[in-house]
Amino acid sequence: MTAEVHQLPYASRLLLFLTVVAVGVKWTEPSVAAAGDAPPGKIAIVGAGIGGSSVAHFLQQHFGPQVQLDVYEKDTVGGRLATVTVNKQQYESGGASIHSLNLHMQDFVKLLGLKHRRELAGKSAIFNGEQLVLEETDWYLLNLFRLWWHYGMSFLRLQMWVEEVMEKFMRIYKYQAHGYAFSRLEELLHSLGGDTFVNMTQRSVAESLLEVGITQRFIDDVIVAILRASYGQSVLIPAFAGAMSLAGAQGNMWAVEGGNKLVCSGLLKLTKANIIEAAVSAISLHSSEGKTFYQVHYEDEEGQGSSFYDIVIIATQLHDSKSSITFQNFDPPIAEFPGIFHTTVSSIIHGYLNSSYFGFPDPKLFPFASILTADAPTIFFNSMDNICPVNISGTFRRKQPQEAAIWRVHSRHPLEKQELKTLFRSYYSVQVTEWQACPDYGSVKTLPPIVLHDNLYYLNSMEWAASSMEMAAVAAKNVALLAYNFWYHDLGKIDQKDLMHKVKTEL
Ligand SMILES: Cc1cc2nc3c(=O)[nH]c(=O)nc-3n(C[C@H](O)[C@H](O)[C@H](O)COP(=O)(O)OP(=O)(O)OC[C@H]3O[C@@H](n4cnc5c(N)ncnc54)[C@H](O)[C@@H]3O)c2cc1C
Ligand SMILES: *[C@@H]1O[C@H](CO)[C@@H](O)[C@H](O)[C@H]1NC(C)=O
Ligand SMILES: *[C@@H]1O[C@H](CO)[C@@H](O)[C@H](O)[C@H]1NC(C)=O
Ligand SMILES: *[C@@H]1O[C@H](CO)[C@@H](O)[C@H](O)[C@H]1NC(C)=O
Repeated sequence: MTAEVHQLPYASRLLLFLTVVAVGVKWTEPSVAAAGDAPPGKIAIVGAGIGGSSVAHFLQQHFGPQVQLDVYEKDTVGGRLATVTVNKQQYESGGASIHSLNLHMQDFVKLLGLKHRRELAGKSAIFNGEQLVLEETDWYLLNLFRLWWHYGMSFLRLQMWVEEVMEKFMRIYKYQAHGYAFSRLEELLHSLGGDTFVNMTQRSVAESLLEVGITQRFIDDVIVAILRASYGQSVLIPAFAGAMSLAGAQGNMWAVEGGNKLVCSGLLKLTKANIIEAAVSAISLHSSEGKTFYQVHYEDEEGQGSSFYDIVIIATQLHDSKSSITFQNFDPPIAEFPGIFHTTVSSIIHGYLNSSYFGFPDPKLFPFASILTADAPTIFFNSMDNICPVNISGTFRRKQPQEAAIWRVHSRHPLEKQELKTLFRSYYSVQVTEWQACPDYGSVKTLPPIVLHDNLYYLNSMEWAASSMEMAAVAAKNVALLAYNFWYHDLGKIDQKDLMHKVKTEL
């Protein structure tokens, strides 16, 4: 949205950094197993979203191709990366856009020979329930002046704050390239940004922004709208998750040509993992001859079954109703995970926008492709976008507002008929997906564990710090390294302090 005008120095500086890191990533060759340690025979992965499919890839990268990988998926490969079809074209209904500095996602796309789909430029505005405020104008300098006039330094301070968080966050790629892993989220965050990062999971983004001198007015007018457009969140979410969402509002976003979910199916195919279409119901612990292993119990169309594994990775949410996996024979028991998820409804609507509702009686004059919203009682949706299909040819152009177009509306609840009739003059179709989109961060006080037992890992604990495709990929690389380092007793690569210094001297 409007933030694009300031992003140049940020982008170029970080792109330089990116090149350095990208070179770093190439240094890692799968390490050689210590002599005498047998490699694991079988590894189970529960969930085939971006977390599960990328951990399959990373596990194979480290343990080698001889390890058997079984991936359990109860629904569809891709999970929260999904598309719906309108008139033979597919549109993203879940996770949609990827930041240009998301290096793991970039690597996957390169590795799989997939293509970037650039987001078509389009203007945005914020709707306050009565009219559109903070419209983007054609001439970006005018935009700049307008924002400065309104908000003084807040805009620049926001850019600097997000840039600082991103720069520190990107240290993770170096650490991971050198084979370092973390057994707790707090350790991981601390190694990236010290106490400040850990604290950023405990305090609200509003608090952190006020502290760096951003005005309450700017938060109310701009930050609220950006966070509402990102799964309908508020300025009360923790500062770390907030910073990640705000980074996504700076432009420089892309998506995968053909659909983001192609990354998941592509990685699973590349690793030749066995995809088992079944719901995992329980994991039980067994030991014999001093060796522990895990039994994964599942249900599929034919009934119940189970298999034994040396290592198990849980790559889905372990909170209330979402996965319903129980843990048996563990002593101490693996406790239930508290916390609830935040529901976001995504409606893909093929229809004619009611531009009058936004103060434009003549639809031809409606210039916006994206509408964000203020937090006002009369507003019943979080954001809406005039979207492009996942495959766009060279001749593609976005539909004009007076034409029937495809709009993606995000809301807290499924839209009622009356609400649809308010937003659209008329429509051909509505396809609704109700997502458990991301954690309701306020519902828990502490971050969940990554290590549930010796060789049993919880990849999605990362979401309680921040939730996105790249965070899932970062968690996947961490869990794969952790599993590998633990298996071969390489404790010097786990939870090391002062890594910035270590990776410099290791070159
Ligand atoms: C509307 C929406 C918009 C979003 N926008 C963005 C965005 O723009 N950019 C971005 O980076 N991120 C975005 N996200 C977030 C992103 O999509 C998620 O963070 C990411 O896809 C999560 O991947 P995952 O693999 O961790 O989990 P999931 O995708 O949820 O995968 C978990 C899988 O496990 C399976 N499973 C669950 N329980 C079991 C069981 N018992 N047995 C077997 N299988 C099981 C599920 O069926 C599922 O397929 C968005 C999300 C939503 C919902
Ligand atoms: C983090 O929070 C703790 C406890 O609230 C506080 O003592 C510490 O000063 C904070 N550190 C930073 C760097 O903000
Ligand atoms: C869409 O893009 C994907 C990835 O490039 C490609 O495999 C697929 O064939 C394309 N589909 C269409 C209908 O063009
Ligand atoms: C469109 O918006 C106007 C103005 O809010 C409203 O009066 C009208 O009922 C809406 N719906 C249609 C179908 O025009």
